[in-house]
Amino acid sequence: MIREIISHSEEETFEIGNNLSKILSPGDVVGFKGGLGAGKTILIKGILEGLGYDSRNVVSASFVIAQEYKVKYPVVHIDLYRFENNEEIHYIDWDSYVSLDKLVLIEWSEKVKDFLNFSLKIDINFISQNEREIKFDTKII
Ligand SMILES: Nc1ncnc2c1ncn2[C@@H]1O[C@H](COP(=O)(O)OP(=O)(O)O)[C@@H](O)[C@H]1O
Ligand SMILES: [Mg+2]
Repeated sequence: MIREIISHSEEETFEIGNNLSKILSPGDVVGFKGGLGAGKTILIKGILEGLGYDSRNVVSASFVIAQEYKVKYPVVHIDLYRFENNEEIHYIDWDSYVSLDKLVLIEWSEKVKDFLNFSLKIDINFISQNEREIKFDTKII
């Protein structure tokens, strides 16, 4: 099923993430797609804030591949921005991140082709400078 929401500001996208945190649970793998500056990280900050984390402390995951947050339950934030090809992505030790007791949030998830089972895919499209169309493609909502 696909559902869409229009966000009119960064704050609204953050709030959507905050609400989204209520329907996510450990074991879920969520993919975020959208170009640079789409709002993937803002959405993830909203999710983390919703799980009790002070999102001002969320760092860019681009340089570490994966950042783990101990919130209500462990949340792994993965950013595949720097990964160019599928070969490289296969070298990531996915088994060490994906687990039934962790929520996994993956930016640039379109680079992961078919070997991860996503619970939810979120696709963010630019409409204008401050507007984004956020599409949810899911098995769980
Ligand atoms: N409606 C919106 N939702 C999210 N971000 C927005 C929106 N409008 C403008 N922005 C801006 O777009 C940028 C999104 O940044 P970020 O979340 O880091 O993008 P990404 O992780 O997708 O590269 C921020 O600078 C933010 O202020
Ligand atoms: Mg980002």
